[in-house]
Amino acid sequence: DERGRRVFDLLARDGRRDFHGDGRLTRTAGFDGDYLGPTLRARRGEQVVVNVVNRLAGRTSVHWHGMHLPARMDGGPHQMIRPGATWSPTWTVDQPAATLWYHPHPHGETEDHVYRGLAGLFLVDDDREAALPLPRRYGVDDVPVIVQDRSFSGDGQFRKTRNMINAIGVLGDTLLVNGTVGPYLDVTTERVRLRLLNGSTARLYNFGFADDRPFDLIGSDGGLLPRPARLTRVQLSPGERAEIVVTVRPGERVTLRSTAPDLGAGFLADRFAGGRDRFDVLQLRAADRLTPSPAVPGTLVPMERIDPDAASATRRLEFAGRAINGQSMAMDRIDFAATRDTTEVWEVVNIDGTPHNFHVHDVQFQVLSVAGAAPPPELAGWKDTVYLAPQRPVRIAMRFTDHSDPDVPYMYHCHLLYHEDAGMMGQFVVV
Ligand code: C2O
Ligand code: CU
Ligand code: CU
Repeated sequence: DERGRRVFDLLARDGRRDFHGDGRLTRTAGFDGDYLGPTLRARRGEQVVVNVVNRLAGRTSVHWHGMHLPARMDGGPHQMIRPGATWSPTWTVDQPAATLWYHPHPHGETEDHVYRGLAGLFLVDDDREAALPLPRRYGVDDVPVIVQDRSFSGDGQFRKTRNMINAIGVLGDTLLVNGTVGPYLDVTTERVRLRLLNGSTARLYNFGFADDRPFDLIGSDGGLLPRPARLTRVQLSPGERAEIVVTVRPGERVTLRSTAPDLGAGFLADRFAGGRDRFDVLQLRAADRLTPSPAVPGTLVPMERIDPDAASATRRLEFAGRAINGQSMAMDRIDFAATRDTTEVWEVVNIDGTPHNFHVHDVQFQVLSVAGAAPPPELAGWKDTVYLAPQRPVRIAMRFTDHSDPDVPYMYHCHLLYHEDAGMMGQFVVV
């Protein structure tokens, strides 16, 4: 409304979907529909209310991944919604324009809920982004690309088998984009912006185009980069996002692919963690006449660097097995308290041979270094999730601003959901 309040209704429910067009109905779950959920969208400064209704058979929660908001609105495992109940979190959007997402976070069952289809995008808009000559017509030249891998049994049901050697979770052999098998996109403009979300539960993707054409990476998890990076590949681990702008020629078809991701893991880990898998993701079909699009600007948004020397606390988080610093998630244990209005530096390191990644709630962080080196362009902007290759420490800096609450924790965890569910998660409060 005119006071800048946005009210959304989100109904979590079971569904059925014919993914293959052959009459086999897969049992799914979705928000409002059968699979995935609507794209929610709000501007910086607006107050958001989401009425989440749980029509599933069991409990769930809905977490706003990447959103800076009070812990009791965060939708983690402490904000469960009973079947039949409604949960109505409210907060004021106070962060830069970004591609965020939402998904359930019930402790021990997140993989199952996300795998069945419970996820959606939450786009944040702001004046800075709106002032840039970037493609932003939703569904026309600004298109969400939620990438998920699934396996199906003979009768069309989702199959969640893990082999004994696979230590990272379920790896599917069929890709879905926005819930569609074998997707294509009709492109009518010279340039198209793709908002890529790795919405998979375990698999990493190394996105690029079949002809290796370069694209402009313009944004990462928490918003636009200071300047675009001209790349041919961008790798995303589960939960990470990338906004890219690609140029097409009239009448052509070009395929967005995922080539073998670089897991930085040993031979066996690599082989059984999808390190050799390739997929066609999305075919772009350019019209014979394309509407001209402005060139991607050379600079995007200013980004003030967080000064690591100003950190009032440094922490080291070691990921191994199904635990962080040797401890498995416990709902009643708070691992530490961060102080409001301070900067912290965390060194996050994967000390076993299995791929992990790191996600923290409430804040967007800056990557200071990866294995001692300056971060690559795709890690130069605001991030909330980052891949942890074995034995390659990632140093990050973040600021805790408002939203202190001594009683309700935020989570940090591996976003390979099988690991998260098995206990690779911790809790902190902001005081
Ligand atoms: Cu995307 Cu703690 O989650
Ligand atoms: Cu999150
Ligand atoms: Cu992990």
